[in-house]
Amino acid sequence: MKILITGGAGFIGSHVVRRFVRNYPDYKIYNLDALTYAGNLENISDIEHEPNYAFIKADITDAAAITAIFKEHAFDGVIHLAAESHVDRSITDPLAFVNTNVLGTLNLLNAFKEVWAGNFDGKLFYHVSTDEVYGTLGAEGLFTETTPYSPNSPYSASKAASDHFVRAYGETYGMPFVLTNCSNNYGPNHFPEKLIPLFINNIIQNKPLPVYGDGNYTRDWLFVKDHAVAIDLVFHKGKNHQTYNIGGFNEWKNIDLVKLLCVIMDEKLGREKGTSEKLITYVKDRPGHDLRYAIDASKINKELGWEPSVTFEEGLDFTVNWFLDNHDWLKNVTSGEYLKYYEKQYSHGV
Ligand code: NAD
Ligand code: TYD
Repeated sequence: MKILITGGAGFIGSHVVRRFVRNYPDYKIYNLDALTYAGNLENISDIEHEPNYAFIKADITDAAAITAIFKEHAFDGVIHLAAESHVDRSITDPLAFVNTNVLGTLNLLNAFKEVWAGNFDGKLFYHVSTDEVYGTLGAEGLFTETTPYSPNSPYSASKAASDHFVRAYGETYGMPFVLTNCSNNYGPNHFPEKLIPLFINNIIQNKPLPVYGDGNYTRDWLFVKDHAVAIDLVFHKGKNHQTYNIGGFNEWKNIDLVKLLCVIMDEKLGREKGTSEKLITYVKDRPGHDLRYAIDASKINKELGWEPSVTFEEGLDFTVNWFLDNHDWLKNVTSGEYLKYYEKQYSHGV
């Protein structure tokens, strides 16, 4: 089995690549990544010399390059994670999200279709998506697999479009596919533009914690390694042409989560209780900010027996320790381009 994993130098992709390389020595795992600001080979340096692993530096927006790579390797399976993934960046540069998330996905679909030319026996295209395609929930209810798509940000609109194309290729060309929509992940290697790693980094540096709006927005948090387990299960046992929702059964209002993080960080850093909370700064809200995401993960639970393996307390503790123990990683990814982004994004607020 030759498996292509795209975006394997990013946050979630690196955990998926590691899991597949370690658990399936008989598979050959190809990690294709353009190494954008979010991609970092350090994330997978521990497995880079394994005999069943290869890295391909390529951009999924480059149709000719992608076709040539598929012709050369004839991948049996694709697990597609490469994407522009940050909502705030999508608000300032929507086109970048259309290019990578929509056109890039189409290039992969076309290359897969061309190589197998209708003979898809034993082949699979796995598209990794987000719960944000469903839009926002009010105070009640959960997203199920049949919730209508109603994306509100350029990021979620681009992911929704890519989901539709995957499904359309399944129906139109008989391409075998599975699709998962997952809630917010957290864990090691999370890029510090997203809430949890950004706030851990700012607390370490005694910098303000920019909470958007009133902080009463709710997200459903899942430990990244549990997402990787779910992806492994769906890839091997998921039903063809099916969607599975993946979530943490773990809803937190941003402000409550931030306060919890402050308590944990004060303890870990040996700071006086209440020190980090003083860094909380309410800033201008994100435009089109979705109020609440929450996943009903009962389908994947019933059909495939998946459930999160760690509690939020355990996962958060592990994550904070990882960031404190991997100071060099944090320092490397928060230099250069990151500083420019940070200044632009938060120049009005903190
Ligand atoms: P990330 O931003 O950390 O990593 C994205 C990776 O894709 C990087 O390694 C980057 O270099 C690569 N990439 C970007 N553009 C590329 C291009 N044009 N060609 C090739 N590679 C490119 O993202 P993540 O948080 O790990 O998310 C991975 C996937 O999971 C995305 O599809 C995202 O929509 C989805 N997802 C993320 C979350 C979350 O909470 N982070 C939740 C649900 C679903
Ligand atoms: P984020 O990690 O960007 O994930 P997403 O927007 O995909 O859910 O944000 C999580 C929540 O935290 C979201 O409600 C926006 C909020 N947030 C802040 O309040 N301040 C910040 O600086 C960031 C990055 C996010």
